[in-house]
Amino acid sequence: MSVATERLRDRRHLWHVWSPLAADLTRTLLVKGAGAYVTDVDGREFLDASSLNLTCGYAAPDITRAIAAQATLLPGYDLSVASHDLAGALAEAVARLMPTALSRTLLTNSGTEACEAALLIAAMHAANVGRPRTRVITFTAGYHGSTLLSRSLSGLPHLAHPFVTPLPVSRVDLPLTPRQMRAPEALEPLISAFRDALLREPDLPPLAVLVEPLLNVGGGVVLPPAFLGELRRLCDEHGALLVLDEVSTGYGRTGRMFGFEHDDVTPDIVVSSKGLAAGYAPVAAVSVRESIYATFDRDPVLGGLRFGQTTSGHAIACAAALATLELIEREKLVERAAHLGERFLAALRGLVGTGGVIDVRGLGLFVSLEFEDQDAAIRTVTSAAEHGLLLRRQGGVVMAVPPLTLDDADATTLLDRLRQSVEGTA
Ligand SMILES: Cc1ncc(COP(=O)(O)O)c(C=O)c1O
Repeated sequence: MSVATERLRDRRHLWHVWSPLAADLTRTLLVKGAGAYVTDVDGREFLDASSLNLTCGYAAPDITRAIAAQATLLPGYDLSVASHDLAGALAEAVARLMPTALSRTLLTNSGTEACEAALLIAAMHAANVGRPRTRVITFTAGYHGSTLLSRSLSGLPHLAHPFVTPLPVSRVDLPLTPRQMRAPEALEPLISAFRDALLREPDLPPLAVLVEPLLNVGGGVVLPPAFLGELRRLCDEHGALLVLDEVSTGYGRTGRMFGFEHDDVTPDIVVSSKGLAAGYAPVAAVSVRESIYATFDRDPVLGGLRFGQTTSGHAIACAAALATLELIEREKLVERAAHLGERFLAALRGLVGTGGVIDVRGLGLFVSLEFEDQDAAIRTVTSAAEHGLLLRRQGGVVMAVPPLTLDDADATTLLDRLRQSVEGTA
């Protein structure tokens, strides 16, 4: 089949996610990947630093082998009818990475479903213990997914909708600019903003605070040290659960296994997804305190959780995730992300003042360049693609999020191409 035909059917029949209708005319059509590189339909090769999912690179032999073996053996089964060994093995492997109290794991398919499940669990738990509450506190610039409840949690403009919001939400604006937020001085105004939100509606006591440890779609915003610890204290004071969305930060991306390890806190619920199966299969996990789980025998209808999808805990996805977690441990990818992240920040800080860059920030291999405006960011991403480098953009922020398996030579290539892209647009 010709490339023209492939482009035509993509344009004619595929409804691209998150796309203005004209966007599919220019989309890169990808055909294969190996290591940190991906190849398009015209044979052009790009170093891929655009995917938060891709923690282990493309065509990782251990993961592809595990998927193939499981597809042959047993692809999946509806876990509401029977179980399979891989679901328990994955739940155990995730629990081993969590604080001891969070030993119970619900498996689902995507970050947005997992965030919805986390809040449903929180609200049902509140009812189970005879203290019904529903109000959720989030960041205005937070992102938790695109399904109805998850999108209602965010105040980002592209998630606005005219429909009824399933749970009441109080949103917290950043008290300072994104580039000021990582400074220790940002802690006091930030905690004070969350305290105000917890107290905002006295008739609706708070159910939970749900935040990302680092704001992803909100602009790669690094939060001040000790923020999560202080938030934990605040939640305890107000009887709210602390729910962390580690969908983009989990499994090594920030140089710790989870973002909350930077502050050494024990959340009540942790949602994780992208890095769990390194982008090889759709899977997400909701890790919950056993004490929360134990209250579900009081559920009036089922005596348990009323939530699930036919493909929750799909065996191929579980096999991919188990192989990913083994690889992360064996190759010490968390430590590698921390080491490479420091190298990236040191190399890129000098770009501030060039090509419209006003800030360089990050944690581990979650590195962001903020530009003075969105056009400068778009110019950099376009120029980078011409230099053979795929970057991720959120508004005026460009992110370099390569696989954690990146070797030193590819890291040098990435930094050179990124520098050329920024300097070329200056
Ligand atoms: C922090 C965070 N939460 C939730 C989601 C939603 O995940 P999904 O796209 O798998 O629904 C994302 C996706 O980017 C995310 O970054």
